[in-house]
Amino acid sequence: MAAITYEHIKTCKQSGARLGIVHTPHGSFETPMFMPVGTLATVKTMSPEDLKDMGAKIILSNTYHLWLRPGNEIIKEAGGLHRFMNWDRPILTDSGGFQVFSLSDMRKITEEGVEFRNHLNGERLFLTPEKCMEIQNDLGPDIMMAFDECPPYPAEYDYLKASVERTSRWAERCLKAHKRPEDQGLFGIVQGGEYEDLRRQSAEDLISLDFPGYAVGGLSVGEPKEVMNRVLEFTTPLLPADKPRYLMGVGSPDSLVDGSIRGIDMFDCVLPTRIARNGTLMTSTGRLVVRNAKYARDYRPLDENCDCHVCQNYSRAYIRHLVKCGETFGFRLTTYHNLYFLLKLMENIRQAIREDRLLDYREEFFEAYGFNKP
Ligand code: GUN
Ligand code: ZN
Repeated sequence: MAAITYEHIKTCKQSGARLGIVHTPHGSFETPMFMPVGTLATVKTMSPEDLKDMGAKIILSNTYHLWLRPGNEIIKEAGGLHRFMNWDRPILTDSGGFQVFSLSDMRKITEEGVEFRNHLNGERLFLTPEKCMEIQNDLGPDIMMAFDECPPYPAEYDYLKASVERTSRWAERCLKAHKRPEDQGLFGIVQGGEYEDLRRQSAEDLISLDFPGYAVGGLSVGEPKEVMNRVLEFTTPLLPADKPRYLMGVGSPDSLVDGSIRGIDMFDCVLPTRIARNGTLMTSTGRLVVRNAKYARDYRPLDENCDCHVCQNYSRAYIRHLVKCGETFGFRLTTYHNLYFLLKLMENIRQAIREDRLLDYREEFFEAYGFNKP
C-alpha cells in the first residue's frame, strides 16, 4: 500500500472542483484542504491542542529551517517531527527549494544543487536533492516535497526551460534517494512559469516518474491573479485524476476558492498567521485591521458571523488593546481566528461541492468579502 492515496468522492457539476479524501499514515483529511504553516515545528503562537480544536487536519513545516535549527538529527533522535512537536496528525514538509531562493541572498545553482548562505549566520551551505531527502527522511513527515527550483516572476523563457529540465532531473534524484517510500509519500513539483508548453513538459516529466501526488509550484510569486488562474486552468488537467494536487504557497481567501474551482486539493500559506501577528483579521465581511482607532470601544467580536472560540468570548476592543501593547495573548487570539476562518472557508467550499454550487458560493462569498468591489 502506498503511503499516500487519494480517494475521489465527487466533482462539482457546476464548477469542476473536486471533493476527496487524502489518506496518510497519520490519518486522513478531506479535500480541498488548507494547511496551516508551522515553519519551525510550531504554528506560531498555537499549541497542537489549539490546532485540533479549530479543526486543523494537516500542517506544513520546512526542511530548510529545521535543518538549520535544531538540526534533523535531533528531530530524528526525538522520534521524528510528529513526536518532537507532539502533533499526531499528518505533516507535510516543503523541500527548501523555495526557501533557499526567498531567504538567502548569495546562491549558486549548479546541476549538483544549490550553494547559498545560511540566513542566520552567513555560513556557506550546500543543498542537493539527496541531502534534502536525507533531511526529510529524518524528519519523517507523511508528505515530503521534491527539491525544486522556484524561479522568480517574471523570468525569461529560456531560463525557465533550463530550470524545468533541471528540476525534473532533481526530481528523479529525489525519488532514487528516498529511503522511506512505504510510510512517506514524495510529491513532485510542476514548474514552468506562465508558459503552457513548459508546464506541460514539467508535468509530463514528473508524471513519468510516478509520484503519489503533484504540486503546482512557482505561483504566488508576484504574478497577477489572472496569470495564476490561467496557469492553473491549463496545468491541473495535465495531472493524474487519481492523485492529490497541491498549490504551493497560496492562501488568500479568493485564491482558495478559485484554486478549488480549477481542481486543486491542497493549499498552504503563511498569510493568515502572518497578518494575524500584525493585527489584521479575515472576516466574513472582509479584512479588519483591529489596531484601528475606531475599534477602541467596539465590544463586538472580530467577526459577528464566526463561531470560533475567540469570537464567542473576546471583543475587538480587548484584542485591539492586547495587540497594540504587543501582548502575546493578543497574537494567539488573532492567529486562532484567522486559521479558523480559513479552515471554515474550506469546509464551506467542500459543502458547496457536495451541493454542486461552488460557483454560486463564490459569488456570495466574494460579494460579502468585498472582492467584487472596484
Ligand atoms: N512554496 C511556494 N512555492 C513553491 C515552489 O515553487 N517550490 C517549493 N518547493 N515551495 C514553494
Ligand atoms: Zn472567530
